[in-house]
Amino acid sequence: MIGLKNMNKKIKILIIGAGYVGMSLAILLGQKNIVRIVDTNKKTVDLINSGKSPIKDDFLINFWIKNKIKIKASNKIHFFAKDSDFVIISTPTNYSVEKNFFDTHSVEDSIQKILKLSPKSPIIIKSTVPVGFTSQMQKAYKNKNIFFSPEFLREGRALEDNLFPSRIVLGSNSMKARLFAKLLVQAAHSKDFKVLFMNSSEAEAVKLFSNSYLAMRVSFFNELDSYSMTRNLDTKSIIDGVSSDSRIGHYYNNPSFGYGGYCLPKDTKQLLANYEEIPQNIIEAIIKSNATRKDFISEEILKFNPKTVGIYMLAMKSDSDNFRSSSIQGVMKRIKSKGVEVIIYDPNLKQNSFYSSKIFKNLEKFKRKSDLIITNRLSKNLKDVENKVFTRDIFNEN
Ligand SMILES: NC(=O)c1ccc[n+]([C@@H]2O[C@H](COP(=O)([O-])OP(=O)(O)OC[C@H]3O[C@@H](n4cnc5c(N)ncnc54)[C@H](O)[C@@H]3O)[C@@H](O)[C@H]2O)c1
Repeated sequence: MIGLKNMNKKIKILIIGAGYVGMSLAILLGQKNIVRIVDTNKKTVDLINSGKSPIKDDFLINFWIKNKIKIKASNKIHFFAKDSDFVIISTPTNYSVEKNFFDTHSVEDSIQKILKLSPKSPIIIKSTVPVGFTSQMQKAYKNKNIFFSPEFLREGRALEDNLFPSRIVLGSNSMKARLFAKLLVQAAHSKDFKVLFMNSSEAEAVKLFSNSYLAMRVSFFNELDSYSMTRNLDTKSIIDGVSSDSRIGHYYNNPSFGYGGYCLPKDTKQLLANYEEIPQNIIEAIIKSNATRKDFISEEILKFNPKTVGIYMLAMKSDSDNFRSSSIQGVMKRIKSKGVEVIIYDPNLKQNSFYSSKIFKNLEKFKRKSDLIITNRLSKNLKDVENKVFTRDIFNEN
């Protein structure tokens, strides 16, 4: 096992889960270390072994090719587990409506497998987990070598956010945790960030509170926009005025149909679940506000009395192909329930329909067939049908 003195030797890192988090860490750490990756999805494994990325991230793909980074993948964990200096877990933790908590079984299964196959390897949980989860795992498996380190990347900018991190947070101050931090620092291309050590429950809280703060900010500017639309005021002028206060700042203030994506909806719900009997108002309000925003947007769309509404792209952001929990889907569901026909244009979708809405492959036909086109983010592709477009993208940015 590696010690502080022999940091110059190549370190063996095993990553479990080759999604956004796993792939960005693989390329980041693959610059100087031996990285192997395990994923249950055979297609993902084959793609990686043929040098192709299972996630859409142009920067990551170009960086991988340019730096000739070697990564081996398998769907058999026992191929790679033995003698790993570090094991990183980045499997999904979806929110379970039945449990009213994250479903953490893929993380716990991975821990069990590693403890059997390579019991001395430190395990770093990068999946977002409920506050207290890592401490439960340490107790259940009598192992202090399991710790949490939050991941702060954005989809579509996964590697970039790890090469230029806002901060590195470690849920342990042990020698192994400091070594792991050192690997992340070594791999980063900027040195302008803090490295923070705390316990794992605190690090888990950092992740959930950070995402809930971002969701709150999105909700705030969306409610500002709902207000100014209803009162016939100019949203842009108000946001410009508000954001010119340096304490508020002119960033992350572009209205939308609601916050969405894989992380913000589930992480806010998990934080609320973690509060249990602790008094709170804001956390609950963030979640309600997002639903109210989608109701409001749907009502605004229905005021146009459209027979057919075209959805231009299902993803939240213009540079992403990932539409997990995107807010436009919430709007789509609401207007369909009022009898409006919904059609979709999204070249990332290969199928012919999505929740029984027809997917158009031809943009021009889609434009002709739509009475109104709704889009979370504006695109130059819609320039010629501006008069049909409904969006709340005021600043033309993500
Ligand atoms: N996507 C983000 O922007 C982001 C940011 C920070 C944290 N996170 C957190 O990181 C975790 C992973 O997120 P993601 O976006 O990378 O997920 P993802 O869905 O893109 O990828 C997860 C990968 O894990 C694989 N997998 C599932 N179960 C597995 C198992 N038991 N063993 C091995 N592989 C398995 C899947 O096939 C998939 O390739 C989640 O907990 C998420 O909340 C995500």
